[in-house]
Amino acid sequence: MPNLNSILPPFETPKDWESVSKLYPIQSDSIWFNFCGISPISTYAKDTMADFFDEYSKFGIFAPRYSEPTIKQAIREYISEILNCSPHNIGLLHNTSEGMNLYSHSIQLPKGKRILIIENEYPSNVYPWEHWQNKGVTITFVSIGETPMDFLQNLKTELEKGDVALLSVSPVHWCTGVVFDMDTIGDLCRQYHVRLVVDGSQSVGHVPSAFKKWDVEFAVFAAWKWLLGPLGMGVAYLSDTVPKDFNLIFKGAGSVKNDSNYLPYRDERKPPADQFEHSTANFNDWVYFLASLHMLSGIGFDRTRQRIYEISDLLSNSMTNLGFKLENAKFPEVKSGIIAVAGWNEKKAFSPEELQIFLKTKKIFTVVRLGRLRIAPHIPVTEKHVRILEDSLKEFLAK
Ligand SMILES: Cc1ncc(COP(=O)(O)O)c(C=O)c1O
Repeated sequence: MPNLNSILPPFETPKDWESVSKLYPIQSDSIWFNFCGISPISTYAKDTMADFFDEYSKFGIFAPRYSEPTIKQAIREYISEILNCSPHNIGLLHNTSEGMNLYSHSIQLPKGKRILIIENEYPSNVYPWEHWQNKGVTITFVSIGETPMDFLQNLKTELEKGDVALLSVSPVHWCTGVVFDMDTIGDLCRQYHVRLVVDGSQSVGHVPSAFKKWDVEFAVFAAWKWLLGPLGMGVAYLSDTVPKDFNLIFKGAGSVKNDSNYLPYRDERKPPADQFEHSTANFNDWVYFLASLHMLSGIGFDRTRQRIYEISDLLSNSMTNLGFKLENAKFPEVKSGIIAVAGWNEKKAFSPEELQIFLKTKKIFTVVRLGRLRIAPHIPVTEKHVRILEDSLKEFLAK
């Protein structure tokens, strides 16, 4: 890892969670509960950007501290720490759809086989596979059931049919917050010789991501959710055992070795993960992302996850005591930072839209997904915010 203390503004690890929350001005006047949607920027990332722009205005691309190879290396090292892999497995790109498309168009699948995707999956892990339907490969959706165990049973039933070539799965469902048992899913894929691809946008930074252990062939995830990074930046993971049939479909100016020597044209490609940047990159976002990763690393990646669980538990208990029916009551043994409110225990009809609009009037921001009110806290959410939510919910119920 490059010495980041000599590159980025110093990051003083806050002494408690209240101080962490203060890194997010949005939390002082309102409450952001949509961190699995789009995370706001921290003052640390904002100050880092100001520092970078200051250098860039004076030195342009020769900005001494913010050199592209150094920033890229540091991002790769932090991500490889989170994923427990090597920096060379990590590629930088823009979003999940881009990564899934690139991968899906760059492999070979035999005719007559199936691609399996989970029910109600986010479109970024569906549309990129659709082109296979014109090539003799079908797409089927596996029901997630009510619990992670149900899902495993449904998955096993599908795999036993013997015609599944590839499973592309999100370890955490974006609407219900259910977290799947990826250890067992990895074992099942090995047992049935099924290629395993992961959409990690809802899982990386939120739940453990042991891609190597699970034998994940390829994964891609967004930076702007659980990793608190910038919109429009994504990360690709490419395993070392990626099959020989992988050939990145696009060739851009940045795909070949020594790409800063433009001529003569040549064919010798960079190592596979580097090829995901086809050409000139969104470097401002890299700086923002590195600042967010540096902040999370200072707080601790594991500690961050534990805190997400802690505050989610508090929220779940508070809402359950008020009589709300939560999706996660069906899988109490699973830790998730996505709380999906599916109803209310009393006979009163539950309208998630009505509740979301009411909370918005209180500057409490949630969303509705698949008929549930979705609440997704992160480290800027504190006990104080949970109490404010509880008071607002009481007011809503008393109406
Ligand atoms: C499961 C899942 N995958 C991917 C994304 C983001 O997709 P993209 O990076 O293509 O915008 C989301 C965003 O909500 C998501 O929930």
